[in-house]
Amino acid sequence: MCGVIGFSGVTPCVTSIFNGLKRLEYRGYDSSGIAVMADQRISVVKSKGKLNQLEPLLASLPADACVGMGHTRWATHGAPSTENAHPHSDEGISIIHNGILENYKELKIKLLEEGVSFLSETDSEVVVHLLRAELRLVHDVRKALLNVIGKLEGAYALGVMTQHEPGVIYVVKNASPIVLGIGHNENFFASDVLALLPHTNRFIFPEDGELARIVPDGVEVWDFFGKKLDKEIVSLNQEEARADKGGYRHYMLKEIHEQPAVLANTIERLVDLEAGEVRGELTGLCKLDLAAVRKIHIVACGTAFYAGLMGRYQIESFARLPVDCELASEFRYRNPCLDRSTLVIAVTQSGETADTLACIKHAKKAGCQTFALCNVLYSSVPRESDVTLYMEAGPEIGVASTKAFTSMVLNFFLMSLELARLRGVRSPEGMERALEALRILPNQVSSLMSLEARISELAGELFESGHCLFLGRGHFYPVALEGALKLKEISYIHAEGYAAGELKHGPIALIDKNMPVIAIINTCQDFEKTLSNLEEIHAREGQLIVVGQDKDRRLEDLCRYMIPCPVSPEPALQALLNVIPLQMFAYFMALHRGTDVDQPRNLAKSVTVE
Ligand code: G6P
Repeated sequence: MCGVIGFSGVTPCVTSIFNGLKRLEYRGYDSSGIAVMADQRISVVKSKGKLNQLEPLLASLPADACVGMGHTRWATHGAPSTENAHPHSDEGISIIHNGILENYKELKIKLLEEGVSFLSETDSEVVVHLLRAELRLVHDVRKALLNVIGKLEGAYALGVMTQHEPGVIYVVKNASPIVLGIGHNENFFASDVLALLPHTNRFIFPEDGELARIVPDGVEVWDFFGKKLDKEIVSLNQEEARADKGGYRHYMLKEIHEQPAVLANTIERLVDLEAGEVRGELTGLCKLDLAAVRKIHIVACGTAFYAGLMGRYQIESFARLPVDCELASEFRYRNPCLDRSTLVIAVTQSGETADTLACIKHAKKAGCQTFALCNVLYSSVPRESDVTLYMEAGPEIGVASTKAFTSMVLNFFLMSLELARLRGVRSPEGMERALEALRILPNQVSSLMSLEARISELAGELFESGHCLFLGRGHFYPVALEGALKLKEISYIHAEGYAAGELKHGPIALIDKNMPVIAIINTCQDFEKTLSNLEEIHAREGQLIVVGQDKDRRLEDLCRYMIPCPVSPEPALQALLNVIPLQMFAYFMALHRGTDVDQPRNLAKSVTVE
């Protein structure tokens, strides 16, 4: 959840570290800090709050320092404060940590008994004191560090700098993401590739259980047993992502507006519209032993889970395979029945979500085939999976996922068509309808952007509401769930998504004139049934807002506000279209309430701890 970055080079690095932290701030933003080494001395600045709080302190660091590390934090142990911010330092040792040390309490108790005093409430600080003690015994930083690692349990990506070896940074990886960057007379490490793209496109991806030594003219890697490893350097042809907001007020708004292009590119890349075929080989599905597959489990967290629910409907209806979609945090501890006849699909924007990653590892061990749908090249989930389909949605910086979500939904749609073909169950009429829907989708998504003013006006009326209920059936049920998630994430309004058919089993008790209800309703699925639910809400004076098709007079009579969406011949893509106004609604509600849209409180973009 935290972001880590480090440089060892021959030119001043303070500004580069700070700029790198800006690119990592989406991972955590409650406090930050930088440690640099110059003239064999370590200097540290730290601050509570976002990076702009740290910026004024940079001037106090030695401007000529060429070696240093930075950290942006998402608090796990100890409140967000300057004391708890990383780096943690003592006696010429400085460390930064992303992850959770599960046995830190027992280690800390022991250290306290030995008379060590702690400056923070973090789990991470134990590493400083353990290393200091080891260095007194072995006088060799790498060996001392390996001894410390032997005592640690949990997840950790560590950066370590000591005055014992000026110019050197050690990096340790165990179950938290780390990438090493290879430059000219400078080498780097960071939590992700994105942070280092301004400096290099050559990377080493350490595995769990590896330790690296970074100096200006090289990088060496060992395993935790001390065996030297020959690691491959991977050149990525990834364009440097624009770190600015492209003229938009927020990343989230920019990313909402990027959706027409992202979806059009996906269709162009993965579908030959003229030939009327999905470019199946690009999905990677043909690399699986599909003849053996009897069941699919989709696993994911957060927004990706809702995309997975939509994927489940799509795969079942097109490819006629039983699909379960489950929260990764539940799946991994449920002891599900798994074997080679099960295909486990992990859906993840970042490719680093701890629970999703654990599911893929678990599934592999159980003999399942594994497939990743992911947005970040070379991230952990793809590296653990048999086959990966990259979404190519481009970097998503806003914590509330928008373009990654719709991209997941579209990719699932294309995967279902390809699965249907590979399984020999594709119907020509179904394919024709799907192609027609795909042809018009990008323009339809573009046309939704013109709803902005209308939705902003609606948000202006509703932003003081304390609650909001979202309802939908079938394909539109996950849309309701996603709409509610977006709203609570960034506006902090309590929102719930419900299957419309469940209304009478509880949520109807909440309905009165103060309860806004957003219903997603379209003629292509269960229209009349959902309409009856809306009648029931109307009869109880609920404030009804309808997202969907506006052609039915009965809807007009019932609802207070109508957000019309273009009509798709495919229910799955209709659902994709319906979700975009809900993203805008959450955005404008947050704007009216004055909350932090891109970096909402307590959240982080990449959840790399359980
Ligand atoms: C966090 C983010 C969400 C995201 C979820 C899963 O909660 O704030 O936006 O949906 O993680 O992330 P993933 O990278 O696995 O899609």
